[in-house]
Amino acid sequence: MDQRPGAAIESVPDTEEFLGDVIAGLSATPRTLPCKYFYDQEGSRLFDAICDLDEYYLTRTEIAILEAESGDLARHVGESSVLIEYGSGSSRKTRLLLDHLESPAAYVPIDISREHLLDAVVRLRGRYPSLRILPVVADYTAQFALPRDLPDARRVAFFPGSTIGNFAPEEARAFLARIARTVRAGGGLLIGVDLKKDAETLEAAYDDASGVTAAFNRNVLVRMVHELDAELDPERFAHTATWNEAEGRVEMHLVSEGRQVVRVGGVDFRFEPGDRIWTESSYKYTLDGFARLAAGAGFRVEKVWTDPRQRFSLQYLVASPPLR
Ligand code: AVJ
Repeated sequence: MDQRPGAAIESVPDTEEFLGDVIAGLSATPRTLPCKYFYDQEGSRLFDAICDLDEYYLTRTEIAILEAESGDLARHVGESSVLIEYGSGSSRKTRLLLDHLESPAAYVPIDISREHLLDAVVRLRGRYPSLRILPVVADYTAQFALPRDLPDARRVAFFPGSTIGNFAPEEARAFLARIARTVRAGGGLLIGVDLKKDAETLEAAYDDASGVTAAFNRNVLVRMVHELDAELDPERFAHTATWNEAEGRVEMHLVSEGRQVVRVGGVDFRFEPGDRIWTESSYKYTLDGFARLAAGAGFRVEKVWTDPRQRFSLQYLVASPPLR
């Protein structure tokens, strides 16, 4: 581990863990692959391209709310706070927030993609020369350590993009509870939460006409070929996205286009035509439903901002003192 001051802490899944997760996922019923493996350098690039698609209303809508409400948002975050961003990616949204924050004590971006994170840090250091930036390369869904030289100040987590939607409700509750412990009582969480809406809009957002989301979905297979020497043809799996009303989630799957065998780590997995690998869920919430989830995790909703069509929400939550 690189311990130079200012160097990022490393806590990313290695090849062995990737292989273990792939074999476990393809052995399960239904077959699954964890969506966190979408995001290598190419996957992060494809995700950025998704954010620019007409169909993918989420990013555009969230950015419009951030722009329209930046002053109010910054007031809730408060002055001299430590801002901890979960899954910072290219940090585009961060700039909209940082531009309005009153003397932040530090900014801690956490991301699983090292190149993406360190590129973003270089750009941010240029834009905010006096801001203390303490990057952490980590899978934030697992346990990870905050930088040891973190200033002792009020902590506010930033988790935009509705990435909370990738967690099943019980996992989401546990994850939010972990953030509540990280920011401590009185600390905050500024979170983007996508809202329930018609199936047509939702399915188009996850199955765009130009096929960018399809390439993003298949990227997990491409990584298996490159990193795990898997024998498989990613092009023989079709991308699908469906709104599951009963479960309140959009599901992405990879559907086998014929009979084929995927060999990885010395194990053969047989696919019949139409057999599926479930790669991602994106849960959508009502405002009430999300407030209940947050309450179960030790957060109270202090403020909700939405766009005029109520497609997306940004919410400021405050961590309650732990029950004893
Ligand atoms: C980054 C998790 C918010 O679920 O909308 C985009 C990922 N998947 N298109 C989402 C994603 C397919 C995205 N999140």
